Amino acid sequence: MRLQLTEDQKERVGDLLKAMTLKEKIGQMNQVSPSIVGGFDVPFEELIEMMTDGRISHEKFEEIMKTAKQDFHEDQIRDGKVGSLMVQDAKEVNRLQKIAVEESRLGIPLIFGLDVIHGFRTVYPIAIAEAGSFDPDLMEKTAAMAARESRSAGVAWHFAPMLDIARDARWGRVSEGPGLDPYLASVFARAKVRGLQNDRSSTEHYVAACLKHYIGYGACESGRDYNTVSMAMHLFYNTYLRPFAAAVEEGAATVMASFNDLNGVPCTVNPFTLRTILKDSLGFPGFVVSDANAVRECVIHGIAKDEIDAGIQAVNAGLDMDMGTGIYSGHLAQALADGKISEETIDEAVRRILSVKMWLGLFDHPYVSSECARRYDTLPEDHLALARRAAEESIVLLKNEGSLLPLARDQKISLVGTLAASREEIIGAWAMSWRKEDCVSIREGMEQEFPNLRYFPCGGPEGEICKADVDQAASYGDVLVAVLGETDAMSGEASSRGDITLPGKQRDLLQMLLKTGKPVVLILMNGRPLVLDWEDAHLPAIVEGWHLGVQMGPAIARVLSGAVMPQGKLSADFPAAVGQCPIYYNHPNTGRPGSRSKFTSRYLDIPFKPLYPFGFGLTYTSFAYSKLEISEGEKQLQIRAEVRNTGDRRGTETALLFMQDVTASLVRPVRELKGFRKITLDPGESRTISFRLPKKELGFYDNDGHLRLEDGAFRFFVGGSSEADLSEEAEITF
Ligand code: GLC
Repeated sequence: MRLQLTEDQKERVGDLLKAMTLKEKIGQMNQVSPSIVGGFDVPFEELIEMMTDGRISHEKFEEIMKTAKQDFHEDQIRDGKVGSLMVQDAKEVNRLQKIAVEESRLGIPLIFGLDVIHGFRTVYPIAIAEAGSFDPDLMEKTAAMAARESRSAGVAWHFAPMLDIARDARWGRVSEGPGLDPYLASVFARAKVRGLQNDRSSTEHYVAACLKHYIGYGACESGRDYNTVSMAMHLFYNTYLRPFAAAVEEGAATVMASFNDLNGVPCTVNPFTLRTILKDSLGFPGFVVSDANAVRECVIHGIAKDEIDAGIQAVNAGLDMDMGTGIYSGHLAQALADGKISEETIDEAVRRILSVKMWLGLFDHPYVSSECARRYDTLPEDHLALARRAAEESIVLLKNEGSLLPLARDQKISLVGTLAASREEIIGAWAMSWRKEDCVSIREGMEQEFPNLRYFPCGGPEGEICKADVDQAASYGDVLVAVLGETDAMSGEASSRGDITLPGKQRDLLQMLLKTGKPVVLILMNGRPLVLDWEDAHLPAIVEGWHLGVQMGPAIARVLSGAVMPQGKLSADFPAAVGQCPIYYNHPNTGRPGSRSKFTSRYLDIPFKPLYPFGFGLTYTSFAYSKLEISEGEKQLQIRAEVRNTGDRRGTETALLFMQDVTASLVRPVRELKGFRKITLDPGESRTISFRLPKKELGFYDNDGHLRLEDGAFRFFVGGSSEADLSEEAEITF
């Protein structure tokens, strides 16, 4: 559903534009955050340093920040020089909005934006996990929930969904996006835009989405955040652009340009990506905002000689709003006077911004009602239930030797690991509006589910191991459940890691637990694919728990007890060694595909296949695939297969459809995801699933962005992961 204004709304925007002064127009293009102006014993910069170098803890820093004095730029708002702020509190929003609406000359409302990436009050799984639910209905519902909750705090603009395809697990921001597959990422993108934007029954129900980070940010070299990006254009079109194009088609209202340069041009000042592709070719009607401070950083990139030059390049490239630098508000008027930019360029940007504000209903409903502001003081049960469903569907069972899982409810269990008792660490990166009292730790969830459970800290991602705890844990439990992984600060922005094994001394802890002779179940809490080669070789059961949000505790416990079946799958490959990164299943074949023989694409010292491939995920039963049939219609293919539950428990399976264009005018991936079906089967039950695949989906874009549909042989695969082996080949003509 595209961003559409009524004729009356369009007229109001046009009339406003005519009435605005140049200063007021440029004001709309300026986003600011409250500035810290003191309130501490040391300067703010020093405080940041102290937290960064460990002189004070994160908690201490947060505590000190509560005393911070902030400048909310009231005078600039009154003077019509601010279009948007990052604030998330109904009272504060209403106070500032009142200044804009009732004290500025034209009364243009502010748009308040925030990073609501996986939930506002009710935090649900990080995106890399939720994408693995392969449940678009769920993805849409969680976004709709976040939209309602954030509107109650005056936030009508989410800097989400993050749609960066990421093939390199060293990059910390893999946690924020839907994994590495363009088809799954596109399904996720559409669902999130629908959830955020489509319930227009009330202005308290929807927000503006912001597709980020446009574009190619996830391909940063060496997985190092903010690093340079170079790629062939066929990869740009077929992989990185796909989810953004899908989300624009779904009607996304805004886009955020990414920090990185793409083939030498920073995306903040890139007319090809912003104008040619996004606004012209995709017909994007909304506005583009920079990432934080990114306009200023174009000087550091070396593409602009100074801030004025950066501002001129950015606005001419199609960047409509400047986040956080003040360069637009400080220099665009002079740039116009000097003939470096045109009034039309300014007007186009302002029209886009005003249109989104009009579409959000901010002109008619600028304030948060007191009833709305209180609505989520206590999280509604249906929100918690949705968060629990999202958490349960995102859990991936990676190993279960001898069906050690599920555990009997009356089993004596030693729960181990400091992460197990943490309510904070279950949240994950980029969530900032939750409350600790709404969170249920894994320990709390497990104590509900398993009455004979006792908890022993033992150790975690940082610090030492407590041998005494390990001995007590070993002497008490018949089974040891270890919750290990990363702290939430070890993934997310500016959190690339060169070694993606379990951090700290967690592997030593596992060795100590194994030495006790008791069976060890590993529950992972992490924000990226990890290297788990040792764990996979030594442990009988491994569960990927990710960071699942406020209901992580009950979800993990219910999967471990079998009350809920594990059904999640991996939205990214898990490397067998960090040296494999970047690694992705949808790779070209090369002329010498990796094998055991010497002169092939392999390593001398590590495997070349991932430890766990894209789409992998076990359950407490098993499934078999057969009878794959392909029938070709004029415009689409029908692909059928039979799935049977071959185990002794009811189970949910996501059947995946892959395609290979066997011979083409450009080398194509050995497999590409083209569809999936999630089904639940009783023991012994079989079902025929079918996919209708439009022939257009078999095409690919060349380096000039032209879609190529080429007759020839195509191979189709259906199965439970990207290593599915049930396949059929067909000659297809277009
Ligand atoms: C950050 C992030 C971006 C976020 C923005 C505003 O640096 O890159 O994802 O939306 O700043 O917080």
